[in-house]
Amino acid sequence: MSHSSDPRPMTARRSGALRGVATVPGDKSISHRALILGALSVGETRITGLLEGQDVLDTAKAMAAFGAQVERLGQGEWSVHGVGVGGFSEPEGVIDCGNSGTGVRLIMGAMATTPITATFTGDASLSRRPMARVTDPLALFGAQITAREGGRLPITIEGAADPLPVCYRTPVASAQIKSAILLAGLNVPGETVVIESEPTRDHSERMLAGFGADIRTETTDEGHVITLQGRPELRAQPVAVPRDPSSAAFPVAAALIVPGSEIRVPGVSRNPTRDGLYVTLLDMGADIAFENPREEGGEPVADLLVRHGPLKGVTVPAERAASMIDEFPILSVIAAFAEGATVMNGVAELRVKESDRIDAMARGLEANGVTVEETRDSLTVHGMGRVPGGGMAVTHLDHRIAMSFLVLGLATEAPVSIDDGAPIATSFPDFLPLMQGLGADLG
Ligand code: S3P
Repeated sequence: MSHSSDPRPMTARRSGALRGVATVPGDKSISHRALILGALSVGETRITGLLEGQDVLDTAKAMAAFGAQVERLGQGEWSVHGVGVGGFSEPEGVIDCGNSGTGVRLIMGAMATTPITATFTGDASLSRRPMARVTDPLALFGAQITAREGGRLPITIEGAADPLPVCYRTPVASAQIKSAILLAGLNVPGETVVIESEPTRDHSERMLAGFGADIRTETTDEGHVITLQGRPELRAQPVAVPRDPSSAAFPVAAALIVPGSEIRVPGVSRNPTRDGLYVTLLDMGADIAFENPREEGGEPVADLLVRHGPLKGVTVPAERAASMIDEFPILSVIAAFAEGATVMNGVAELRVKESDRIDAMARGLEANGVTVEETRDSLTVHGMGRVPGGGMAVTHLDHRIAMSFLVLGLATEAPVSIDDGAPIATSFPDFLPLMQGLGADLG
C-alpha cells in the first residue's frame, strides 16, 4: 500500500515532440462506486475497465470485508456478488482505506445505517484529512461515531439500528459528502435529500438510477436538490467504466506544453460535472478536438486529439471549481507555459485534498522559477511562455502533485525532480510506461 512503500525519487527532462496514443485507466470515482453499489445489490455485477490503482483495490478489499464476494477475473474485469441493501456484515478487522478520501467517505456512508460496527484507518495523508464533513451528517441518521481529535481517522462507526431519513445541505461543494449521504440513505425508510449549492460530479446519482434506485435531481431556488427513496432493491448491473478525464489530463497537458506534440487519448469521459479543465483549456486557446462523441457505460465519452500550440492565461471562475477540482495542480503547470496570468478562484477545497495542493503547487513551481501568488482560496500562476526548472518538488503523498511536476519537467529548460513518485500507483499505476511510450523522458 502507498503508505508502506518506500519513497521513490523521480526526475523528468525536457523531451522531444510527444506522439502516439495514450490509453488512460478507468475512472477512479466510477470504479469505487461500481464496487460499492455492486456490493449493495442483489446478484452479480460484472465490471469492465475498473481502475486497478491502489485506492480502488483498497475499496475492493473493504467490500469483501463487509461480506460481498469480490473476484478479479482479468485485467480490469471484476465480479461482485452483492449482499443487498442493509446486508453488510460486521468486518473482522480494521478497514484500511490507504490514501483514498473517496473510498473511506463513501464506505462510511454505505455502512452507517446498518447495525454493525466498523473501524476505519488510512495512511498519513488520509489521517490528516477532515472527516467530520461526512460523519456529522451520518450522525443525523442515528450512527454513533468515535473519531480522533479534530474528527480525523481512525474512526469507529456504530451503524444506526433504526435510521431516520435526513435532509442535508452540504456546507462545501463535495461529491464525497453527497455520495456518503445517498449511500447511507439507501437503508433508511422514506426520502433522503441532499441539497448542494454548486453541482458536483454526479456518478453516484447516475449509477444508483442504473441499479434501479428511485432518485431524482431538481434545480430549484434552494440549489441542486437530490432526492432518494430509501430501501430499494438494487439489482446487479454490468458496469463499463469509462476512462478517467482526471488521469487523461496528464498526457493532455504534456502534449500541450512540449513543442511539436500530437497525441490521441481515446474514450475519455466528458461528463459535464467533470469537464471544467477542458472548458478552461479551450479558453486558453488549446488545440484539442473531441472526436467521435458517444455514450459508454451511461457516461458521455469522446476521443481527444491534442496538439501543442500557444496558450494564454485566463481567469477560472469560482463556479467552475467543482467540475475540475482534481485538475488544478496540472492546470497550474500548463499555466506556467502560457502567456500571462492564470487566476484560479474558489479553490479553498484544494487545501484538504491528499495534500494542501495550493501550497504544494506554489512551493514546487517557485522552486522551478515560476512566479505564483496564493490566498486562502485562490492561486495565480504568472506564465512567461518558458519555465527554467531545475528544482525539486515535494509531493506530500499526493499522486496528482507527483504527476504534475513530472509533466512540468518535460518542457522546462533544466530537469525537474520529485521526492516521491510512489503515490502515483494510487490512481495511475501505468503512468510511467504510458508517458515513456509517447516519448517522454522521465523515470
Ligand atoms: C471524488 C470527489 C472529489 C474529488 C475526488 C473524487 C468522488 O472530492 O476530489 O478525487 O469520487 O466523489 P470532494 O467531493 O471532496 O470534492
